[in-house]
Amino acid sequence: MKHLLSMTDLSHEEIIELLDMAADLKEKRLRGKVTDLLKNKSIGMIFEKSSTRTRVSFEVAMSDLGGHALYLNTRDMQLGRGETVADTAAVLSRYLYCLVARVYSHDTVKELAEHASIPVINALSDLEHPCQILADLLTIREYKNRLKGLKYAWIGDGNNVCNSAILGCTLVGMEIMVACPHGYEPDEDIVEQARKMGGKVTVTHDPAEAAKDADILYTDVWISMGDEDEREKRLRDLAPYQINAELVNLAMQDVIVMHCLPAHRGEEISADVMDGPHSVVFDQAENRLHAQKSLLLRVLC
Ligand code: CP
Repeated sequence: MKHLLSMTDLSHEEIIELLDMAADLKEKRLRGKVTDLLKNKSIGMIFEKSSTRTRVSFEVAMSDLGGHALYLNTRDMQLGRGETVADTAAVLSRYLYCLVARVYSHDTVKELAEHASIPVINALSDLEHPCQILADLLTIREYKNRLKGLKYAWIGDGNNVCNSAILGCTLVGMEIMVACPHGYEPDEDIVEQARKMGGKVTVTHDPAEAAKDADILYTDVWISMGDEDEREKRLRDLAPYQINAELVNLAMQDVIVMHCLPAHRGEEISADVMDGPHSVVFDQAENRLHAQKSLLLRVLC
């Protein structure tokens, strides 16, 4: 792997290696052990959209590893005033060791990768969010001690995180069932690609069918940046897809409830479930740090 634009840039073996290294780095951090493997290395973080977890976890990851992360908001760059993506990628490659990009269009992150001579990491595009899924797989493995054979139920909008979850589950041998309203299905090409890879992927419109006997219940925000104009319609369409106690009761007794955050209690998840005993959402958020450290070492060392 040179770039991480999609989960499919990783093989099964590479995912397991990244998770093993992330677990090791997590343990070392707990014991206060520091490593400066990225000393004198700087990365650039081109962000077109706001972020809490992704931005902070990448910045802290670089700082923990002895390196430096520059936050580059496109509003403050010449990119925001018409400089091309290609020229930006070529120039930044002369200063930096890696680019992390959060962009509206997946084509932008692909174009960055095409013109950069350094690794490019997709930190959320309209198509995928592979960094989130690496942290999620680490979290699932911590709670379940395995990945293969588990049933993962995605409830809600079949969005960019869902697309990466479909590919991630397929690569590690988990079954995934997506329950979403009509018109909110995950990317068709990704579903087809996952099935060709041997993935057990089902798309249904029945949340109870997906939740039944699930080991993992997963949801994400219903109103993402750019969806604000459709807020009322989306809330109406997605209302039957809330993760709540009723849905949790259909899943395995030891189900874990996941959310990549930010959460909206009372919309995609009820407050009692979000803050209840099955919820692992803050472990997920923490694991962004450990998984991304592992990823940065992989692409930079
Ligand atoms: N889950 C996630 O990507 O969070 P942020 O939008 O805060 O980075």
